[in-house]
Amino acid sequence: RGPDHVSQLPPETLLRLLGYLGPADLCRCSQVCRRWAALTRTGSLWRHLYPVRWATGDSYQGPPGEVDQEPNEEWVRSRQHEGRANQHWDEDADIDESEGSPWALAAVRREKALLKGLGYHLLPAVGVSVRSLVLAYSSTVSSKMVRQMLSLCPGLSHLDLTQTDISDSAFDCWSLGASPRLQHLDLSGCGKISDQTLRKLSVALGNLPAPQVPGRGGRLLRSAPLPVPALLDGRTPHPAGRKRQAIVFGVPAPPAPGPPRVWLLDPLELADIEDAAEWGRRRAGGDTRGLTGASLEGGSSSSSSSCCCRRSRRRAHRTALSASFLQHRLSVAAAAGGGDGPGGRDSSSCCSGPAAPRTKNGGPPSQGPGGACTRPLRFLSLSGCHQVTDAGLRALSQRGGLPSLEHLNLSGCLLVTEVGLQELVSACPALNDEHFYYCDNIDGPHADTASGCQNLQCGFRACCRSGE
Ligand code: FES
Repeated sequence: RGPDHVSQLPPETLLRLLGYLGPADLCRCSQVCRRWAALTRTGSLWRHLYPVRWATGDSYQGPPGEVDQEPNEEWVRSRQHEGRANQHWDEDADIDESEGSPWALAAVRREKALLKGLGYHLLPAVGVSVRSLVLAYSSTVSSKMVRQMLSLCPGLSHLDLTQTDISDSAFDCWSLGASPRLQHLDLSGCGKISDQTLRKLSVALGNLPAPQVPGRGGRLLRSAPLPVPALLDGRTPHPAGRKRQAIVFGVPAPPAPGPPRVWLLDPLELADIEDAAEWGRRRAGGDTRGLTGASLEGGSSSSSSSCCCRRSRRRAHRTALSASFLQHRLSVAAAAGGGDGPGGRDSSSCCSGPAAPRTKNGGPPSQGPGGACTRPLRFLSLSGCHQVTDAGLRALSQRGGLPSLEHLNLSGCLLVTEVGLQELVSACPALNDEHFYYCDNIDGPHADTASGCQNLQCGFRACCRSGE
């Protein structure tokens, strides 16, 4: 046989080619040889994961902002049917074949196998690079699976668990504060979720740093050292690294003679840097089957939050209240000599200060001083989570509140009251009333401008007016 020309391509070219393949083809490529297997475990190839869609043959791998978030009603009905067929599913148990159509059972089997493979084989290798995990309408995912996936994906910014059967235990790893980048969390239809999850979420998002405003002595209340990421060769990044320009990182010279290979990195593409670090570690560990260097250009990966709003009963935008609240909290903190609020936990003032703009399309920046990302949650849907109470909302309003939250859906949260809503809204200065949903029977905050309950005619999520 002649030489295998494809395998002789430089690894950076192979990696670029692999980027055009879908998940099924990538898995096939990983079985070609050890070198290809190592390449297919590069983090940037697995940035956005849609295992439920992949199980149906849809190989979409783009950022979640481009996905139509409106549930297809026909599809929802079929998933509900599958859910009944597999209602008491356990990941180690056999599938009950007594109910459900053959097509539905085959889809359930595919999904189950894919999720298990994802958790046991793929995520341990690429989990740190994963930014989006969409498990919406999965009839087979369990709390145990979600818990395992979350522990392997500390950099998640988009998590969609819509209409799944998970419980609070799925988020146990968040009790350690393991998800500081989370921007989008959709728990719509997760009826087993309670206040425990919201407490864990608040811990996972971290604490906002104390506001840096002049104290009574004219000094900063607190000054934290700016975090500087360590790079492969131990140098600090370019001070103007926020600009979109290539930066060159040196890596150890290859054992064979020749010019040293370099990574060409886009500073806005964190995955490129992670890939460089990943392959640097592999080289340090003696794995010479992988890249000897790579030249990569960043792709589009920014996840944009989109909403599934279909009805806005009362539309308008709040303007001054939240800004004045922030100003009040800052003045209270300054008068108290700085530091956190009662218990050392509550510091609802955003690090961006009272002048941070509150706009229709975007809240204040989620980055604190020095680029430290703090509580960047922008989208939270608890629609149909009927066990959530004011205590859960209070947990979210602590540790600095949610300064970036724009979309909040509490439709079907039957146990929350006006008091809990008011407390949370006071800690969400970026909240857009157009994307703020709660029960029509509550005379809560911004009743004239907020949107109403979304579950009135939903049929499969909790609502106090179901059946009317
Ligand atoms: Fe009250 Fe839907 S929960 S109107």
